Amino acid sequence: MRATARAQPNIALVKYWGKSDVSRNLPAVGSISITLDELYTSMSVEFDGALPGDVLTVNGEDDEAMLARAGRCLDAVCGENRQRARIDSQCNFPIAAGLASSASAFAALVVAADSAGGREHTIAELASLAGGASGSAARSLYGGYVELENAGDDIVVTSLCSATDWPLKVVVAVTETGPKRVGSTEGMEISRKTSPFYGRWIEQQDADLAAARDAIAARDFAKLGEVAEHSCLKMHSIMWGSRPPLIYWNSVTLECMHAIRELRSRGVEVFFTIDAGPQLKAICTPGSESSVTDALSATTGVRDIMISGLGDGARLVGDD
Ligand code: PMV
Repeated sequence: MRATARAQPNIALVKYWGKSDVSRNLPAVGSISITLDELYTSMSVEFDGALPGDVLTVNGEDDEAMLARAGRCLDAVCGENRQRARIDSQCNFPIAAGLASSASAFAALVVAADSAGGREHTIAELASLAGGASGSAARSLYGGYVELENAGDDIVVTSLCSATDWPLKVVVAVTETGPKRVGSTEGMEISRKTSPFYGRWIEQQDADLAAARDAIAARDFAKLGEVAEHSCLKMHSIMWGSRPPLIYWNSVTLECMHAIRELRSRGVEVFFTIDAGPQLKAICTPGSESSVTDALSATTGVRDIMISGLGDGARLVGDD
């Protein structure tokens, strides 16, 4: 009745921004991501018929705000007649700050719940269930390079290439540690309804996905970087063009972006991406991470640096 699973966050290289169906949490576009290694959420789920209601602790503290969402996710995996659950989440990186903590949390939650509840969903089914709770969580069920296809009334998630087949590195520059200003579901709806660029974004997504898929198949770092930065900046253009505007960057985010472009002009194989938060993620080839780390550490205002390789998908780490 108790199980523990671990999952790492993923970072989208071809972003998703916008939902086709908010009630079912279906994305309006497909996306391609990389699953990280060193950052993780470890999630324990224990079903207990004696509990009056679900209980959620995050890093040892009660978390009322996330409880209902976690409970709905357990219902989706184990059915609404399930026993109440004690859920304990341990996360080794900042939460809700644009570092994809919800992706690792819900990916780990569906795997732990499935096992604790004695269910035997396939990974593909668990990916779809995790996606119902957090769009990007579906991608953390798989390792390495992952594509999420928007299949109309469901999603299909596949691994394009394993972490060991193309072991790139990721250097995260943390520029702020507070929670994000506007949650992504709310932000996506604001953009869908108000941004003049939203329609073009949807139209162009298939071309970006195809370019990234080809670059990954050919291990073409420069081509992958070009499409990833383009996708990131396009997504932020939609956000900036929304009413009210969604500005997730701070001045340090922009300084980090310049630092990465400057490094690249000197021949370092690196590109950047930024999600719905102020942190910059630099993706580089193995061996380049020390110069990337040095450049980002030297950028005034960077508070912390995290370095990660690429890793596997969500998995059980304990079952008793
Ligand atoms: O996982 P969600 O539904 O909170 O959305 C995440 C959206 C971005 O991180 C900004 C882009 C992406 O594809 O991960």
